[in-house]
Amino acid sequence: MEAPAQEQHRLSVPLVLLLATLFFTGAPSAAARGEAATPSGLHPVVLLPGFTCCQLDARLTDEYEPPPSSPGCGARRQGRGWFRLWENYTALQADPALLPCYQDQLRLVYDPAAGDYRDAPGVETRVVSFGNTRSFRFDDPAQNDACMERLVEALEGVGYREGANLFGASYDFRYAPAASGLASAAFSALRSSLTRLVERASARNGNRLAILVTHSFGGLYAAEFLSRAPLPWRRRHVKHLVMLGLGVGGSPLILQELFGSTFSLLPSPKVYGAAPLVVTRARNYSAGDIPEFLAAAGYSDDEVARYRTRALPVPLDFRAPLVPMTSVNGVGVPTVDKVVYWDGNFTEMPRVVNGDGDGIINLEGKSGNPDCNLEAVLALQRFVGDDPDQPYFKSVLIPNRTHNGLVSDELGLRSVVNEIMEANRATSF
Ligand SMILES: *[C@@H]1O[C@H](CO)[C@@H](O)[C@H](O)[C@H]1NC(C)=O
Ligand SMILES: *[C@@H]1O[C@H](CO)[C@@H](O)[C@H](O)[C@H]1NC(C)=O
Ligand SMILES: *[C@@H]1O[C@H](CO)[C@@H](O)[C@H](O)[C@H]1NC(C)=O
Ligand SMILES: *[C@@H]1O[C@H](CO)[C@@H](O)[C@H](O)[C@H]1NC(C)=O
Repeated sequence: MEAPAQEQHRLSVPLVLLLATLFFTGAPSAAARGEAATPSGLHPVVLLPGFTCCQLDARLTDEYEPPPSSPGCGARRQGRGWFRLWENYTALQADPALLPCYQDQLRLVYDPAAGDYRDAPGVETRVVSFGNTRSFRFDDPAQNDACMERLVEALEGVGYREGANLFGASYDFRYAPAASGLASAAFSALRSSLTRLVERASARNGNRLAILVTHSFGGLYAAEFLSRAPLPWRRRHVKHLVMLGLGVGGSPLILQELFGSTFSLLPSPKVYGAAPLVVTRARNYSAGDIPEFLAAAGYSDDEVARYRTRALPVPLDFRAPLVPMTSVNGVGVPTVDKVVYWDGNFTEMPRVVNGDGDGIINLEGKSGNPDCNLEAVLALQRFVGDDPDQPYFKSVLIPNRTHNGLVSDELGLRSVVNEIMEANRATSF
């Protein structure tokens, strides 16, 4: 049998390093525990954490072929059942030579026959612990602060209990939602499991509507989930969407390192307009020039076409969730504004320019100014707040809060927990 032609998307070493720098950096701090006695009648909370914050298991079948550069990758794993693929910090610390194996096994391939991405041949994957928050608990201490582990503790401090009124919706972050109507098996599976989880959470809590709380790109998954769920279902089951650390319209951050599925997270022309996002000596690329940028960066015609047809419609079609919504964002911290590949060599690590123009990403917020993706955050007002059908919209901007600090440091957690409690108390909008 002939295998379908496949294009391969590898999580590269720079991506892993980049993610380690950008998403996993957050000052550890004590959780905001014990702020209130256990109140009764809480609305159940379902958490969707940020990009790379859900763990994945894999198993290798006989079909798996290790990359030629690392022929040992299948050894001791093939036919041996499930193992932790993302992320096994302990194993990678002990043996960095495993990194190319993990990268190879994490890559996605596009299957033209199915019109969808899937795991590499011989690799089967599953998200760990869907339904509860165990998937957000990593053996990597840095990741625990970047993801929702501290928020879980803070919510337990105000009366939430795992499995009773606190739930976690893990998802496979490698598969971003595709345009409505196109095959997207992973996202479809997430939609049905999340539907059932929300219904179960409500049913277990006296039919109280659920509050969805998202961090970072988890918000994109939740927003897409909601906008594709029938409106009567949303109104019957969802009390509130609390979206932390995300605007609309994607992020220039993603321009630094791409793989097929992240295309949906690229900056949207509707939000970023004509601003130069990728700078080279020869020419600049705005959000509207992303197809040209992708072609120049070596993506095939097919991949560029998939950006246009599969990914781009997602941010272009972004709509208000039409359930009450609160958005909480940190501001006042230098944030990636554009990336510079001055010599036009897109395989190099780019220089990153933040709004201040000092070219340094500093999640600790040392140099002050400018706003954290303020374009994307302000666009929320346009896309959600100004929609006449949107029942309630509140935007909270917290000065001097980093992306990860919002869900890990004491002040960030306090604000976030306050907003969740406020959503709980609201009787009607
Ligand atoms: C990580 O890998 C080590 C060594 O292969 C293994 O013993 C451990 O169980 C793995 N961790 C998880 C969470 O599976
Ligand atoms: C690219 O954009 C920068 C501003 O970020 C501007 O100074 C420069 O002139 C532009 N270059 C080209 C080739 O248009
Ligand atoms: C581009 O950058 C990569 C990585 O730094 C390097 O290996 C390669 O030689 C560069 N290509 C050109 C044409 O300079
Ligand atoms: C910003 O936050 C950092 C770390 O939380 C703190 O050390 C610093 O004093 C704060 N700066 C301002 C201007 O509030």
